[in-house]
Amino acid sequence: MIERTLVLIKPDGVARGLIGECVKRFEQRGLKVVGMKMIRPDAKLVGDHYTDDLEWLTSVGRKTKVSYEKKGMKMDKPDVEIGRYVRKWLMDYLASGPVVALVLEGHHAVEIARKLCGDTEPRVALPGTIRGDLSVESYMIGDEKQRPVKNVVHASGSVKEAESEMKVWFSENELCSYERVDWAAIH
Ligand code: CDP
Ligand code: MG
Repeated sequence: MIERTLVLIKPDGVARGLIGECVKRFEQRGLKVVGMKMIRPDAKLVGDHYTDDLEWLTSVGRKTKVSYEKKGMKMDKPDVEIGRYVRKWLMDYLASGPVVALVLEGHHAVEIARKLCGDTEPRVALPGTIRGDLSVESYMIGDEKQRPVKNVVHASGSVKEAESEMKVWFSENELCSYERVDWAAIH
């Protein structure tokens, strides 16, 4: 099942010189780069990326609540409200420097790109993943510094999310079609 997914190398990944390292991992796993560009995103673009979508806000808010509960801190606010707060932080983080945006194509592209990125919190991300190999950042450090978890990359969470996110960053004519000759041997 060939899919497309959106990956971003976030400002911390670009600033740390990790563009090549990240792209290499996606390519060597067998995903085809069909779109790639560097952008300094403005407020509108990051707002379109982290949409005001209730489902997503609830899920991000829930994640934040759980991480606070693990530290023995209780948050009484509804998940959505916490999600809105986190969204504001995220928009500032993503707009803080240049970002490299990629569209990757391949079998199970959404699932595979997510796995290569690893857990949202680099501290618990498994070795072998981008976040697990290249960072020890944690929710705790983010909270202390009053900013989101810097986790090098973003990858769409579902096929539906990928479809809407790709439209935010790329127009159809910016995507290229070509053969990955190794696919004939892999698949
Ligand atoms: O990026 P991923 O899909 O793994 O996580 P998400 O739940 O969609 O959250 C988006 C981004 O928000 C994460 O990649 C983190 O940078 C940040 N985040 C955070 O800093 N603190 C949280 N409690 C939740 C998310
Ligand atoms: Mg996500």
